[in-house]
Amino acid sequence: MTDFTVLKNLQPQPELVRENIKKDPGFGQYFTDHMAHIRYTIGDGWQGHEVRPYGPLLLDPAAAVLHYAQEIFEGLKAYRHADGSVWTFRPERNAARINKSAERLALPQLSEEDFIDSLKHLVSLDQAWVPTPESDADESSLYLRPFMIATERFLGVRASHEVDYYVIASPAGPYFSGGIEPVSIWLSPKLKRAGAGGTGFAKCGGNYASSLVATNEAAAKGCQQVLFTDSVENKYIDELGGMNLMLVTKSGKLLTPALSDSILDGVTRRSLLELAPQLGLEAEERQISIEEWREGAASGEIVEAFACGTAAVITPISKLVSEDFTIDHGEEAGEKTMELRKTLLGIQYGRVEDKNNWLVRL
Ligand code: COI
Repeated sequence: MTDFTVLKNLQPQPELVRENIKKDPGFGQYFTDHMAHIRYTIGDGWQGHEVRPYGPLLLDPAAAVLHYAQEIFEGLKAYRHADGSVWTFRPERNAARINKSAERLALPQLSEEDFIDSLKHLVSLDQAWVPTPESDADESSLYLRPFMIATERFLGVRASHEVDYYVIASPAGPYFSGGIEPVSIWLSPKLKRAGAGGTGFAKCGGNYASSLVATNEAAAKGCQQVLFTDSVENKYIDELGGMNLMLVTKSGKLLTPALSDSILDGVTRRSLLELAPQLGLEAEERQISIEEWREGAASGEIVEAFACGTAAVITPISKLVSEDFTIDHGEEAGEKTMELRKTLLGIQYGRVEDKNNWLVRL
């Protein structure tokens, strides 16, 4: 394992505060006592591996990330098993994806070893922040957020020669405030998240920034998420503001849009497609139009819909609301949706055999 210099936080949050946070962490509101950091310069490559106290960054006001958004990130979780051990899920997929994102955003490649070791060093120091789930339905975990930012100071538009990589960690409960209660989705009529040749497949902040106005529109319509369609024909499902979308058919298919320039290669998405056959579902990745969803729901062929991602896990969708129509799947979570959720969480928390060797001990 790569050596990381450890600078211990001499003023960690008191145990009582930490334990209270872990009881009801919400999502992304609290942070642990340390963060991992590695610095890149064009001459020396990645150097200075360290874990240091969590705290504000000192950035030059001319740092490239602040002006041209040269930034990428990842999201994965640390899960506590019944015997107290702590594991993560398919981190090599996140390592591969951060490098795909880095390539698109003209950021440097980071080795899989540096990526995984940064998680291991941070979590070993902040072990006490990993929540213990209280039941099989409990999805409490320690959410890990690696990110890479362009920190060279200059105002010309070119790739930065100096880059900083960090990992921060946040105890997390469900992403949506209603937990696994089904969510309603607003179909963005005009605004798009991504287009052909763009950065939609990369995990970069810009994609999320471009989803925010539509997310506000969704909230104004009483919906918890927004769905974007393709930017050319405005008719095919792309993805939700912050996660992938899947549909289940009566004839036993698990449908999701095929990967493209504008779809994120979600680790949860990929894992569910791989698990589908074990649950009697045939995975199908292809273009899916809103019209197909609408007609399929009306005829009884499309019976369930859900959102999936590391943060969202698997969250059932009750309805898709558009300017002209509503697709209604009812307020009860779908049967296959819940089976997939139970199996995935079962593997992640060590209750279901990990036949694919997806878990990595932290
Ligand atoms: C994740 O699922 O890890 C994400 O980055 C999505 C974001 C909406 C929190």
